[in-house]
Amino acid sequence: AALAERLAGDATTLAELAAAQESFEPIELRKGARNFCFADGRAGARVMVIGEAPGEEEDMQGRPFVGRAGQLLDRMFAAIGLARDAVDAERGLYITNVLPWRPPGNRRPEPAEIALMLPFLRRHVELAQPEMLVLMGNTPCIAGLNRQGILKLRGQWVEAFGLPALPMTHPAYLLRTPLAKREAWGDLLSVAARLDGTA
Ligand code: URA
Repeated sequence: AALAERLAGDATTLAELAAAQESFEPIELRKGARNFCFADGRAGARVMVIGEAPGEEEDMQGRPFVGRAGQLLDRMFAAIGLARDAVDAERGLYITNVLPWRPPGNRRPEPAEIALMLPFLRRHVELAQPEMLVLMGNTPCIAGLNRQGILKLRGQWVEAFGLPALPMTHPAYLLRTPLAKREAWGDLLSVAARLDGTA
């Protein structure tokens, strides 16, 4: 943990942080993963999305949220005018995960792994300088809030890493539970309202 703190703390740009994090290589996590997945999207975006960990497709491409859940995530944020490939930072979206490597066998990240990578995530938020965070599912709530129970947490603004943060249900959950999309839509509107300065 001390090493992670030092590596993360020494990074002064996102590129340096990516290099430092990739060099960290916790053995267990590296085992099953093909690629390091740092982040994707528009540097300077006002909204930073934090997911759980790369899945199969993300592991192949080395980019977060590019599989089915990621496609839904893109459609969700497009509905409020935000995109990871936006030219204008104002309409940008910046995306990362708590873990940059796919856990072996696609299992859930373990609490110890989340804790191990936390210094990198904290620094990632500092260097990306978003105005607000969206915490997608339980894993980023554990990392940023030390709380879980996403179905209770979702939809209410809290503070994480010193910023306003909105827990939302994960798009992979929404794919399995289409009826939950209505609530997620409300949560997206709450992000849009905060961007507009009306919330
Ligand atoms: N699920 C996540 O939490 N993150 C990804 O990058 C892909 C799927």
